[in-house]
Amino acid sequence: MDHFLYRDGALHAEDVPLADIAATVGTPVYVYSTATLLRHFRLFDEALDGLPHLVCYAVKAAGNVAILKTLAEAGAGMDVVSAGEYLRAKAAGVPGERIVFSGVGKTRDEMRIVLEGGIRQVNVESEPEMRALSEVAAAMGVTVPVTVRVNPDVDAKTHAKIATGKSENKFGIPIARAREVYAEVARLPGLKAIGIDVHIGSQLTDLAPFEQAYRKVAELTETLRADGHGIERLDLGGGLGIPYERSNSAPPLPVEYGALIKRTVGHLGCEVEIEPGRLIAGNAGLLLARVTYLKEGEGRRFAILDAAMNDLIRPAMYDAWHDIVPVIEPEAGAETTPWDVVGPVCETGDTFARGRDLPPLAEGDLVAFRSAGAYGAAMASEYNGRPLVPEVLVKGDHFAVIRARPTYEEMIARDSIPQWL
Ligand code: LLP
Repeated sequence: MDHFLYRDGALHAEDVPLADIAATVGTPVYVYSTATLLRHFRLFDEALDGLPHLVCYAVKAAGNVAILKTLAEAGAGMDVVSAGEYLRAKAAGVPGERIVFSGVGKTRDEMRIVLEGGIRQVNVESEPEMRALSEVAAAMGVTVPVTVRVNPDVDAKTHAKIATGKSENKFGIPIARAREVYAEVARLPGLKAIGIDVHIGSQLTDLAPFEQAYRKVAELTETLRADGHGIERLDLGGGLGIPYERSNSAPPLPVEYGALIKRTVGHLGCEVEIEPGRLIAGNAGLLLARVTYLKEGEGRRFAILDAAMNDLIRPAMYDAWHDIVPVIEPEAGAETTPWDVVGPVCETGDTFARGRDLPPLAEGDLVAFRSAGAYGAAMASEYNGRPLVPEVLVKGDHFAVIRARPTYEEMIARDSIPQWL
């Protein structure tokens, strides 16, 4: 459920007509709904009711400081994967003790930044990283709570580019080596093992892989405890999928996922953390674009938009489906015809959809890509000299620009010309 609905014949974000946003801010633009962000955060929070827990929003999904602050004020913690994300979370007012630091290649500089600012825990992903963290922490005279991310060798049954829990993936340490690694953590200065971390992939539409992974984590908890480690916290990662193609998909609900967590690890008395990104931000945002031209090709018809792969890369990168809907509500029973929906970038990959059945379209029409709130703006670039796409946050009947579209001058002024030119 989200708060982007047709009302009086026009698509709204909560109580704001999207056409008003387009008129003020221009297109393309990302539009987020506060009520939807909060609703999805609360669904997770409630799904873990009865267990000590913290829902740590995965900042990578949509890291605008206004979004982070919205979620933080509702009680969310944050999962960050770089110093940049950490500092964004701090700028949103999130205290260090509610931020977990994940990621496969944390640099020593990044470690210093989070240790200075305060961190709930660092999720260590390899032995070399663990030794580096020990050195940095010991040199700073602090002890950092750590979990080790284990790779449970589970097939997440999702797109290969976003599966992370198989042994061939770069993430975590093989679960079979966990005992040795925890023994080393216990010996190293500056580190204190407090829990276990796992994350098997993203856009999972089946609970079975989570179940396999969490059962392995539960077993490992008991083994490590028997070895004398104080395992009191389990970070179970993110990954629950969303219905991108609303007409034919219904992934499991957060409440079912919560029940699975209770069933698999609830008996251990651990505090549970989860790191959802997509399910909180995905359906809480859409990309609003305008049709620039309608073009007849050889046996195909192209709708050329003013949004492109640099604004929303998911279709080009993962063959991802996003529902595309007109902002003016189509008449009931309006006939649909197939369109290739493309952007203006000079690559064939700049194709959002091929042969997509859409109601009648005209040049100048506004269209919305649904479920684009996660990994949309976050993955945008200025490829082809296109200024970074702006972002707008809606709350009730008002909206605010939360990231302005840079002017051409601003975009160009970031470059500098060396003296010899
Ligand atoms: N925790 C860790 C350690 C992660 O690597 C990720 C996502 C998450 C949490 C959040 O997962 P989520 O709940 O959002 O599925 N750009 C891709 C998705 C990449 C996900 C990377 N890691 C896409 O657009 O589909």
